[in-house]
Amino acid sequence: MKAEFYAKQIDCLLKMVNNNQGDEADEMSTLKTDHFLDPKRLQQEKNMFRRMPLIVGHSNEIPYAGDYIVRELDDRSWLIVRGKDLQVRAFYNYCQHRGTKLVQDEKGECQNRFTCPYHAWTYSNQGDLVGLPRADLFPGLDKKSKALKQANLQEAYGLLWLTQNTQPSVARSIGDYLGGLESEFEALGLEDYHLYFDKTRELKANWKFPLFAFLESYHLAVLHKDSIADFFIQNIAHSEFLEPHIRSFVPRSNVRDLATADLSKVNISEFLTPTNIIFPNICMISHPTSISFLSVFPGKTPETSTWRHMLLVPKLPETDKERAHYDKTVDVLDGLTYHKEDFWVSELGQEGISAGAIDEFVLSKNENLIKVFDQLVEQHL
Ligand code: FES
Ligand SMILES: [Fe+2]
Repeated sequence: MKAEFYAKQIDCLLKMVNNNQGDEADEMSTLKTDHFLDPKRLQQEKNMFRRMPLIVGHSNEIPYAGDYIVRELDDRSWLIVRGKDLQVRAFYNYCQHRGTKLVQDEKGECQNRFTCPYHAWTYSNQGDLVGLPRADLFPGLDKKSKALKQANLQEAYGLLWLTQNTQPSVARSIGDYLGGLESEFEALGLEDYHLYFDKTRELKANWKFPLFAFLESYHLAVLHKDSIADFFIQNIAHSEFLEPHIRSFVPRSNVRDLATADLSKVNISEFLTPTNIIFPNICMISHPTSISFLSVFPGKTPETSTWRHMLLVPKLPETDKERAHYDKTVDVLDGLTYHKEDFWVSELGQEGISAGAIDEFVLSKNENLIKVFDQLVEQHL
């Protein structure tokens, strides 16, 4: 992204760097930890997840008619498929005859038909029931009413957004949902990006916990001392509250160069790191040559979750040198910074809560966005 898009925020951040003071609340605060242990609260949060548009993939994962991916969310399987009309739809991945899980692969290409392994009821890539063996044994069966059950799937800004709740009134347009982030998504041109790396892992921590690591920069110098700490100026960040989303800017060590740079020419992510929390569960981080989408989903218990890292690149590498560059990016960011540092400490923190050793977090003046995020979740339950 060209730096001029963020001219106002750059101005603000440079002043903060010069004063050596980032955004801060007036006082420190505390946050009760019961929301990280309570099964009832977890169920409320899962219900909230069902009402929200969730990013479940990138358009370029399924570019052609019949291409599909399967996503498991909250004990339910979703078949996300591009129909022959090129529209992407999300179906409950279950046969309407006896409920059998229809597609067992994680993804596939150019599939015109999906055939159930049990009795071979067959569905088109637009979800219609198009065939069944011995149809004469089902006199009066209305095939239309036995199409695959559909949820709301919107393809917008190069991403696939699933709203699981099937009531039409629940789904909102993505532009409307993004609100203050919409112009940024328009300018980013994510539809031209490609998925270079994609990994999902189990986490022994509440889903909210890892997001905290992206809402404060207090931990940078300590936790990330062996990975990315030296790239950044410590303890300074500027944040904007774009209800219900939060956007932060973390200055890199060369950020002062922006004061004299031609903002219409330079890539913002070489000087600072824009970090968006897209409510409720995505952290989107712009690196100099790629963009990370970290998503977290509630698990079976309050103390567990799953997280997924999608790394998008503007152009798939073609040479060994380009591949080596992105492989190193994956090693440093995914393997080290996120997996072995940010997400690792989430598990350690959850241990303390689950052990009953801590019943409230203490939040510094520059960790107050954690409290803001917790309140946002509360408001949307
Ligand atoms: S359960 Fe799918 S065809 Fe019978
Ligand atoms: Fe971190």
